[in-house]
Amino acid sequence: MRKKTGLLFSLLVLIMYSTGAFAANQEGFSLSNSDCIKCHEKQPATIADSGNKHKTEVGCLDCHTEHPPEGKNAIPDCSVCHSDSPHYKLENCGSCHSDTHAPLALNIEGEVSAPCLTCHEKQGIEVKENPSAHTNLACNECHPKHRYIPACMECHEKHTEDMNVDACLSCHPVHMPLVITYDQETPSHYCAACHGEAYTLLNNNTTKHKDLSCVYCHKAVHKAVPTCVSCKIPHGEPHPAKMLSKYPECGQCHGIAHDLK
Ligand code: HEC
Ligand code: HEC
Ligand code: HEC
Ligand code: HEC
Ligand code: HEC
Ligand code: HEC
Ligand code: HEC
Ligand code: HEC
Ligand code: HEC
Ligand code: HEC
Ligand code: HEC
Repeated sequence: MRKKTGLLFSLLVLIMYSTGAFAANQEGFSLSNSDCIKCHEKQPATIADSGNKHKTEVGCLDCHTEHPPEGKNAIPDCSVCHSDSPHYKLENCGSCHSDTHAPLALNIEGEVSAPCLTCHEKQGIEVKENPSAHTNLACNECHPKHRYIPACMECHEKHTEDMNVDACLSCHPVHMPLVITYDQETPSHYCAACHGEAYTLLNNNTTKHKDLSCVYCHKAVHKAVPTCVSCKIPHGEPHPAKMLSKYPECGQCHGIAHDLK
């Protein structure tokens, strides 16, 4: 079949030659971009549809500088035009860019991480330097398509029913989910999902601490525990130094912060 069409092609070229359809150049003959479609339907159609910059920045002949049967190098290497970037040092370009005529129709399969880092170095550093269960996931387990952003709830339960993805992200930066920080607006019932006892004690207390949110005292960083005197208003110096030197722990008289006496 291949032989036969090759022969047919040679014949056609010969005929076109003799009728003056091709202008002669130093290689003997030349085709123009508009000739290709006469014999190749698929590639021009793909390029017209989804050629992107392979449609606007280059033509068939920029890539296909030779043609069989005379030309043995009909298929170009990507490196002819794409060099000098870590991304262009990857192997097997075609495993992702599966059709050069549709260069952005990507096919990303298997577990893929390292190739992503040729363009997204920052995320690679974040997951590596902050070990968590997410460090062990390939990038494309969460991003199966390029630019797709998953919702946490595709894989996880919420701590409380009213949380949305923005809430998750306000505590967990996704590429380093155990580096947990939060802002001063964080409602106390979020904390209550895991710290029921503290929440109940505080709510049942009758002192002024009752009206404070968890994050008012446990500021910004998860697991941070304040000292009583770090709260300048109104606890700066509540008692004479002499008394405090005798009873160094506030808790000796006041109990715990959640359940003040
Ligand atoms: C007259 C018909 C005809 C025209 C015009 C034509 N081709 Fe082809 N082309 C063929 C045939 C037939 C084959 C298969 C040859 C073979 O397998 O030996 C082929 C094969 C190819 C291949 C595959 C080579 C390979 O190694 O698999 C490429 C690339 C190609 N053509 C590009 C072009 C481009 C680009 C143009 C326009 C500049 C063009 N062709 C114009 C008939 C044509
Ligand atoms: C940016 C470079 C580039 C451009 C532009 C380009 N091609 Fe290709 N073409 C390739 C590569 C590389 C292959 C090898 C298969 C692959 O990687 O998709 C190929 C393969 C082919 C083949 C062999 C059959 C196949 O699809 O594998 C034909 C025929 C072909 N191209 C024709 C064309 C025609 C016609 C045009 C213009 C409408 C064109 N190409 C534009 C790079 C290009
Ligand atoms: C003859 C030159 C040439 C060859 C060969 C070539 N490209 Fe390109 N390609 C370009 C140009 C020019 C652009 C647009 C400028 C840029 O993005 O670098 C481009 C852009 C691209 C883009 C981005 C498309 C877009 O619209 O943003 C991808 C992806 C791509 N090329 C992949 C490949 C792959 C993979 C190969 C090899 C199979 C290849 N190219 C071979 C010239 C070429
Ligand atoms: C693991 C998958 C993968 C492999 C392997 C791969 N690429 Fe890409 N490439 C991508 C992704 C993802 C993009 C980003 C596409 C976008 O911006 O939509 C991209 C974009 C590009 C671009 C356009 C952006 C730019 O950097 O100018 C070019 C050109 C390109 N690749 C060329 C290549 C070449 C050449 C090779 C082989 C040396 C290659 N790619 C190997 C996934 C891959
Ligand atoms: C050739 C470079 C290149 C490669 C390789 C690449 N990307 Fe991208 N990626 C980009 C560019 C460019 C953007 C758009 C950035 C922007 O809009 O600021 C992007 C955007 C993204 C976004 C969406 C960002 C947003 O804000 O919506 C995600 C997620 C993403 N890439 C993940 C990946 C993953 C996962 C891989 C590996 C499978 C990968 N990328 C490979 C260049 C690349
Ligand atoms: C557990 C799922 C998950 C894994 C694993 C993951 N990502 Fe993401 N990624 C996300 C989510 C969710 C977002 C949106 C984050 C946001 O909006 O703050 C995101 C955002 C991005 C963005 C957009 C810019 C940014 O940082 O917000 C890029 C680029 C990206 N990821 C690349 C990667 C790369 C590269 C890897 C592999 C090293 C990776 N991701 C691993 C879930 C994941
Ligand atoms: C594609 C699935 C997937 C997505 C999407 C995803 N995760 Fe995960 N995550 C996992 C897996 C798998 C683990 C490890 C097993 C487990 O704890 O469930 C994990 C673990 C975690 C852990 C515990 C980390 C550790 O090392 O103990 C946190 C926190 C976490 N994820 C938060 C998030 C947040 C927040 C989002 C959204 C921004 C998210 N995840 C999106 C799959 C995912
Ligand atoms: C108020 C901050 C906060 C919010 C909002 C938040 N988390 Fe968490 N999350 C935590 C803390 C704190 C831990 C416990 C970390 C530890 O064990 O050190 C945790 C643990 C996890 C874990 C590990 C398994 C577990 O349950 O202990 C997953 C998974 C998780 N969160 C997912 C999510 C998802 C999904 C959302 C959004 C629906 C979310 N988180 C919202 C603070 C938060
Ligand atoms: C998903 C469950 C979860 C959520 C939500 C959560 N925590 Fe925690 N928290 C934990 C775990 C697990 C520990 C570690 C317990 C241990 O070491 O015994 C912890 C520890 C702490 C500690 C330190 C305890 C000590 O003994 O040093 C404080 C303070 C704390 N959390 C406050 C908060 C606050 C404030 C919030 C809300 C902004 C919150 N937590 C939300 C699970 C959670
Ligand atoms: C008035 C400041 C203040 C408020 C409000 C507060 N805490 Fe605390 N919390 C403390 C202090 C101080 C400690 C250290 C123990 C002590 O001396 O009372 C502590 C200890 C803890 C501990 C570790 C010991 C334990 O009791 O398990 C957790 C967990 C905790 N707080 C969670 C919370 C949560 C959840 C809230 C909101 C419901 C909250 N805290 C509200 C000041 C506060
Ligand atoms: C020896 C017991 C004792 C110790 C130790 C102690 N206090 Fe008190 N504190 C009291 C008594 C008694 C009162 C007065 C109660 C009242 O007026 O109802 C009080 C009142 C207070 C008040 C309320 C003042 C007001 O105007 O309402 C604050 C705030 C206070 N203490 C903070 C602290 C702090 C912080 C520490 C540790 C540095 C501490 N206390 C140590 C016994 C103690």
